[in-house]
Amino acid sequence: MTAQIAVLVGDGIGPEVMEEALRVLYKVQSHFGLRLKLTRQLVGGAAIDATGVALPPQTLQACETSDAILFGSVGGPKWAFLPPERQPERAALLFLRRHFSLFANLRPAICLPALAHASPLHPRIVMKGFNILCVRELTGGLYFGEPKGISEEKGERVAVDTMVYRESEIRRVAKVAFDAALLRSRHLTSIDKANVLQNGVLWRRIVDDVAAHYPDVSLNHLYIDNAAMQLIRNPCNFDVLLTENLFGDVLSDEVAMLAGSIGMLPSASLSARATPQGRFGLYEPSGGSAPDIAGKGVANPIAQILSVAMLLRYSFSTSQSAVAAATAIENAVCSVITEGRLRTADIWTEGTTKVGTSEMGKAIADAISFQ
Ligand code: IPM
Ligand code: MG
Repeated sequence: MTAQIAVLVGDGIGPEVMEEALRVLYKVQSHFGLRLKLTRQLVGGAAIDATGVALPPQTLQACETSDAILFGSVGGPKWAFLPPERQPERAALLFLRRHFSLFANLRPAICLPALAHASPLHPRIVMKGFNILCVRELTGGLYFGEPKGISEEKGERVAVDTMVYRESEIRRVAKVAFDAALLRSRHLTSIDKANVLQNGVLWRRIVDDVAAHYPDVSLNHLYIDNAAMQLIRNPCNFDVLLTENLFGDVLSDEVAMLAGSIGMLPSASLSARATPQGRFGLYEPSGGSAPDIAGKGVANPIAQILSVAMLLRYSFSTSQSAVAAATAIENAVCSVITEGRLRTADIWTEGTTKVGTSEMGKAIADAISFQ
């Protein structure tokens, strides 16, 4: 059976990093005999320019008939003047997250010891590297709660966003985080603001409930402000982080930077829907479209390449060769960084070789053959 993947390249550095991710995907496809059918579709500012909307019906339809979506990045200054509901981030990315109920966002931040120098933290803290998995709730909270808007009241404008979480929404993402912890170091830190927000009080109660089903996972709770501080103090103390939507947006950027560069951080956004070979999901780098470096061939393609690995691992989890291909990609990235000492500009340091986007992509694709 052939798996369908919708490829949505988007804007900014999206096209150039996706080219490298596809180079690697084609390589593992032939190396591991995967049967994949890729369909490229327009999205974001590129789709606005071509069709007037950020998510054309044809793109949505292709996503609906696919087993997984491989997403680049959307947005940029060219489309920032549009009304918010037509802008690429809201009309394409947030719409897709909500439309497909992609409630569990997995963002693994791995600081390889060979890249510890790229971290802004003191070498004493990150010398041995660290490995944190952020599990961020992605379809609730302040991003989507109603009412929402700006209105006029007593002669001035008032902005309203609503934070709302249902018990079932907290429970399902907590389960994903506990399941992930079971396969790792079995330590989960749940983050909230239970000292101020009712949402935090409920979050903590439900996470405690779910924890009762996972006696092998140790759980602790941290307030978001303290968590932001403890992560900088000692990232090695953390294994899995569980957060609501907005806190996860902020903390995942923080841990990406602590790990060296946001250009290294992939992500998987998973729905509950099973596909014949795994679970439906959208896979994208955690960073944005980086318009300042777009088109220069200097962007780090690793986040996009590792997003391909996550796609194979989660959306094709029942296929042994797809999971083996995912591991091969992760190992290839590791060996190009550690043994090859190749670096894109964001992670470069004296004594290593600075390369552009496509040289990095080629080196990783080549490293796959030798496994
Ligand atoms: C992310 C991004 C998005 C978010 C933006 C582009 C809407 O920052 O995926 O972290 O806020 O979720
Ligand atoms: Mg973000």
